[in-house]
Amino acid sequence: MELSKAILTRRSVRNFLPGKVPDDKIRELIKAAIYAPSAGNCQPWHFYVVKDSGIRKRVYEEACRQGFLTEAPVLIIVCIDRDESAGRYGERGKTLYDIQDTAAAVQNILLSATDMGLGSCWCGDFDKSGLQEIFRMNGGRVPVAIVAVGYAGFEPSVPKRKPVDEVADFIGEWEDWGEEETSETRKIEHCDMGGTVFRDVNLYGVEISDANLAEGKIFDCNLSNLEIYDCRLDGMKVNGVDVNSLL
Ligand SMILES: Cc1cc2nc3c(=O)[nH]c(=O)nc-3n(C[C@H](O)[C@H](O)[C@H](O)COP(=O)(O)O)c2cc1C
Repeated sequence: MELSKAILTRRSVRNFLPGKVPDDKIRELIKAAIYAPSAGNCQPWHFYVVKDSGIRKRVYEEACRQGFLTEAPVLIIVCIDRDESAGRYGERGKTLYDIQDTAAAVQNILLSATDMGLGSCWCGDFDKSGLQEIFRMNGGRVPVAIVAVGYAGFEPSVPKRKPVDEVADFIGEWEDWGEEETSETRKIEHCDMGGTVFRDVNLYGVEISDANLAEGKIFDCNLSNLEIYDCRLDGMKVNGVDVNSLL
């Protein structure tokens, strides 16, 4: 499914058909979650995947008895793992980044579910301590969302959205960005760059040929349209991964 279609057709589904969601699909959802961005790549999240109907019932009791939580064959309890992020960004990490990181993970789950033909609903109304008790979470683990997943009973209608012009201010006009110049291929040729470290460099559209890049390192660079020809690459690493294993 096109991403734009998944974004526009995703709905909060609150009624589910009986029938289980295969484990490999659930794993795909969790994989989508962990590919969300997180501040400093801390990945401060943990997921409880609940299939057991008795435990789903207990979760329902802690979540204002919202009926769809017992109807959905699987609940994903998305938690912040403060132990993973503690100390790195202080108060801002605790009060903002942790929430944003896990929210991005939830959204990835919802969109991937739509892509797989599954219905889902983000539930945020629950008693935090109740869930901590059910899953015997330690103090550093805080539940932030329950995602109900299953096959939708019927298509919910589209809740109205505010128009773009009501919610966005466009500031300024495009200036001259010298596009002709930036679209030119940038070349690095016939040189010895053994051991060079590129960090946070825009390598967009760069062509490197006949160069020694052995034992070099590339971290956190824009690699779109980067082309490398006839270069020495032994021992070279890209984001910690040996380049030979990427070729
Ligand atoms: C943070 C958050 C908490 C939510 N909590 C609940 C909830 O407890 N119960 C529920 O039925 N829906 C919940 N929702 C779903 C919203 O009601 C829903 O996203 C909104 O009405 C828009 O509908 P749509 O998701 O179909 O576009 C929550 C959504 C978010 C983002």
